[in-house]
Amino acid sequence: MSGRVLVTAALPYANGSIHLGHMLEAIQTDVHVRARKLAGEDVVFMWAADTHGTPIELRARKEGITPEALITRAHAEHAGVFRDFNIGSDIYHTTHSDETRIHAEAIYAAMKAGGYIHTRVTSQLYCPNDERFLPDRFVRGECPKCGALDQYGDSCEKCGSTYSPTELKDPHCSICGTTPEARDSEHLFVALGQHEAFLREWLRSPEEGGRTRLQPSVRNYVMRWVEEGLRDWDISRDPPYFGFSIPGYEGKKFFYVWFDAPVGYIGATQRWCDDQGHKLDDYWRDDAEIVHVIGKDIVYFHCLFWPAMLHTAGYTTPSRVQVHGWLTVNGEKMSKARGTFILARTYLEHLPADYLRYYFAAKLGGDQDDIDLSMEDFANRVNADLVNKAANLASRCVKFVHGRLNAQLGLPAADAAPLLARAAERLALVPGLYREFESGKALRLAIEIAEDLNQFVTESAPWKLATSDPERARAVCSAAIYAGKIIAAILKPVLPAWAEKTERMLLLPAPLTFANAADPLPADHMIGAYEVLAERLDPAGLAAIVEASKETLGGPAAVEGAAGAEGAEAAEAPTYTVEPLTAEASIDGFKGVDLRVGKVLTCVRVKGSDKLLQLSVDLGPLGSRTIFSGIALSYAPEQLVGKHVVVFANLKPRKMRFGLSEGMILAAGASDDAVTVIELDGRSRPGDRIS
Ligand code: 2FM
Ligand code: ZN
Repeated sequence: MSGRVLVTAALPYANGSIHLGHMLEAIQTDVHVRARKLAGEDVVFMWAADTHGTPIELRARKEGITPEALITRAHAEHAGVFRDFNIGSDIYHTTHSDETRIHAEAIYAAMKAGGYIHTRVTSQLYCPNDERFLPDRFVRGECPKCGALDQYGDSCEKCGSTYSPTELKDPHCSICGTTPEARDSEHLFVALGQHEAFLREWLRSPEEGGRTRLQPSVRNYVMRWVEEGLRDWDISRDPPYFGFSIPGYEGKKFFYVWFDAPVGYIGATQRWCDDQGHKLDDYWRDDAEIVHVIGKDIVYFHCLFWPAMLHTAGYTTPSRVQVHGWLTVNGEKMSKARGTFILARTYLEHLPADYLRYYFAAKLGGDQDDIDLSMEDFANRVNADLVNKAANLASRCVKFVHGRLNAQLGLPAADAAPLLARAAERLALVPGLYREFESGKALRLAIEIAEDLNQFVTESAPWKLATSDPERARAVCSAAIYAGKIIAAILKPVLPAWAEKTERMLLLPAPLTFANAADPLPADHMIGAYEVLAERLDPAGLAAIVEASKETLGGPAAVEGAAGAEGAEAAEAPTYTVEPLTAEASIDGFKGVDLRVGKVLTCVRVKGSDKLLQLSVDLGPLGSRTIFSGIALSYAPEQLVGKHVVVFANLKPRKMRFGLSEGMILAAGASDDAVTVIELDGRSRPGDRIS
């Protein structure tokens, strides 16, 4: 391996503002990149705005501006938000660039030369009033499978089935309401099935060092798509369309936005290389490590289409695609009505970026579990971890040494040696944890060090010894300050400003890194005055954000395709009835039901049944179970993978037509198409009893 690492986050769509769902991914990626840079690795973070497609073209038209003007405005807005959140990408380019176009054309040419592009006439819905073919998301109608009203042209939100827009019953154009007509048009398709052998090998083979390219649960469902048969991919769109013309079809056919969007990763790299004097081939033609961070909704693009495109054209394929879960707020999908659809800029108007950086990084791990921003937990965690523990340790000891002990450190107290040795051991684990996207675990180690040393300082009470035994007081505080230096290094990828303040107030000879953080300081080292590292998070700030989010968002959804945010609207207060309570029961009756935490490993539809999903559920030390659950009308299988659910584990196994069901998943809901599975958060351990 060349040792070069190129990391990307998904390219935010330019048709809307950045919200906290985007920030989750931006922060996860930024922390990964900063940590690896801090570990001395040669890492770049290549990023851009995703700028093509029908929504941009329509929005610009509605605003009476050109698409170019729209994406320029969005780019500036996005870049400003990311700057203010301290996201340190090496570039924030745009897919509407010559660099992206040239590489998209090169990939297309290679696919064409390889015989992978096929033309075919297809029938698609066309709005005669708007004089345009309608993309799937611009047709609404009745679901052909379950009859649900007002569904998109490609999939039903009620029953989860997918279909083509021409199958939709009673379709209408979502721009003007006209009934569309079917019209023929020639399209260009990539025959993905021709890449099956390559994709199987790519999905199977581990990255160097035995690590897999995909998290196991992600690989499972990608493999299932392969097994189900790879469908041809339509990469062309008819005008009007904002995008790149397909060579040979200038002005007549355009690349579908999802064809050139990922090429934006290469386009951004090209631009950065041209500006900085690097060579593109060192990243995209060599054995560099390419890491993509994405949300669950765009796995198909990144794990099937994208590697096939890269492979055909001789570019380096990703070493790793890291998938994160959705952001929920207060346990629910973000909702404009509840004020939990929070724009990143609105957040910044009320609270410092670092609180959110810390909170997200503390909650993120290497799995694809959803992350909940609970306002109460947010305030508690920031105040308990950062203010009461980590900042408090530094504040007490730096102020004391600076004010009362001539600003001079001494040797750390000998009785703190075991604690400091443990701190150094914890530090040694940190680069590996960040590399594996386990920022929550890395930060936990920093807080544990703070807990240990705070206890030591409290018990040693140096402030009582300032006159009677100043050298003992100095030794106690020096131990704490030494630990504070290690804590600052662990926090540095998440809170760079904290580390910089620590470097300044401790008058450190060099910026903190993972490698130098545990170096001893000279026994007579002088330190500077304390700088405030963190201030209490006032929950009123959170309430104000929610209030402001209710006001600032109105009108049509501002966001398309971005993680966890789409179409999230609160319903009016429901009027419904529920089953009456059953007769009073004793606790013994409840004890007979053995409920356990289960983690969903895999989940697939059951052939021959509309209602059933087949799940494989991990019960930790109790092994894994196969469970059939009648929730297929409420969940797409991939929505459940990775979730921690409640399993009725001592239920007598039931032989079904499709196999043996070894338990039951607990869920709420009055009808089959409105079921909500009971979910536990990621801290629960598979197999643990629920009582
Ligand atoms: O889902 C989205 O918001 C897309 N704009 C992500 C694109 S990622 C990459 F492929 F460009
Ligand atoms: Zn129309």
